[in-house]
Amino acid sequence: MGVTQTFDIASIPADGIGKEVVAAGRRVLDALADNSSGKFAFNWTEFPWGSEYYEQTGQMMAADGLETLKGFDAIYFGAVGWKNVPDHISLWGLRLNITQNFDQWANVRPVRFLPGIQSPLRKADTTELDWVVVRENSEGEYAGLGGRNLSGRGPGNEVALQTALFTEKGCERIMRFAFDLARTRTVKKVSSVTKSNAQQYGMVLWDETFHRVSADYPDVETESVLVDAMSAKFVLRPEDLSVVVASNLNADILSDLGSALAGSLGLAASANLNPERRFPSMFEPVHGTAPDIAGKGISNPIGAIASAALMLDHFGLHEEARLIEAAIEQTTAAGHLTQDVGGNTSTEAVTDAVVEALVRSLATV
Ligand code: NAI
Ligand code: MG
Repeated sequence: MGVTQTFDIASIPADGIGKEVVAAGRRVLDALADNSSGKFAFNWTEFPWGSEYYEQTGQMMAADGLETLKGFDAIYFGAVGWKNVPDHISLWGLRLNITQNFDQWANVRPVRFLPGIQSPLRKADTTELDWVVVRENSEGEYAGLGGRNLSGRGPGNEVALQTALFTEKGCERIMRFAFDLARTRTVKKVSSVTKSNAQQYGMVLWDETFHRVSADYPDVETESVLVDAMSAKFVLRPEDLSVVVASNLNADILSDLGSALAGSLGLAASANLNPERRFPSMFEPVHGTAPDIAGKGISNPIGAIASAALMLDHFGLHEEARLIEAAIEQTTAAGHLTQDVGGNTSTEAVTDAVVEALVRSLATV
């Protein structure tokens, strides 16, 4: 039977548990395609870029790597960073190289609470919690602007500038993205996060832009919260959250807090989107390479599998994305849990359970 639609996907597992969880996500997507009655297929090309590649070549990715990636429908990424390469070199050489050059300016990071996984928040037992962090992904504190100087004056005398960049256009587009997303959710609310009392230029521009943009969305409730207060709110009043929009650094920190509250960093999914679709978008778990558990086959694959569901949403396969999410819920509810969420099931066995739940649900539709 002919396949109606084939998606070309570049997979970049990179380092540590990135390899384990990308393999798990690919298995789930392939099981979905195999059972789609020819509706779609995935054509995978795997790239060996990362810290081992650096060991051999002195580069994190091929010199023409970005040019190569441009031809793909999406990128499925693991995590990058290993002991042999300084973290700022591995991150800028591969992951940020891709997100920056492909203008993947919207980073969507849902915080999901799953059945069968105990949250450190007692409230989660009785309250329905579900929110999404929208991270400005192209500028802000990670613009890479600055420099180091005066090391020639000898030890103890060097200075460094790390400059945050806020453009009104950059603020506006991520805010409109957040408002549009809020309109698709049950609770139509956007919480904007800054530290504008202390950072009086960039973050005041952010606040003023938020105020201006919000006038175009009278149907969406808004609030502006300082980042320190928001971190407290994540813990104390998470039921008030729906869409949280924040700058690159603030949203990076808040999304780790969110996934920890849901039970583990290993659960958190993320999409780096170029909403105009001029470049491929990239889908990856939020977590890093976890050197402490890498190679043991015990990493939690759920963040990577849920990221694959976000990729399906990007392809317009919304029903299939929901099926993957439902299969994840059935898996955790049935107690197939890796050690980070209190179980002792292996990466592979959790992935088996997700695939089985998925195939079962496909057989009944
Ligand atoms: P990490 O996320 O790798 O690990 C933090 C803790 O969470 C560790 O105890 C780890 O075992 C646990 N953990 C993370 N993911 C897990 C999973 N799927 N299942 C079970 N447990 C999990 O963060 P860390 O230790 O700060 O960074 C390690 C390396 O990863 C560094 O080189 C860092 O630069 C890199 N990194 C890369 C990222 C990326 O490529 N997107 C993001 C964050 C860190
Ligand atoms: Mg992070």
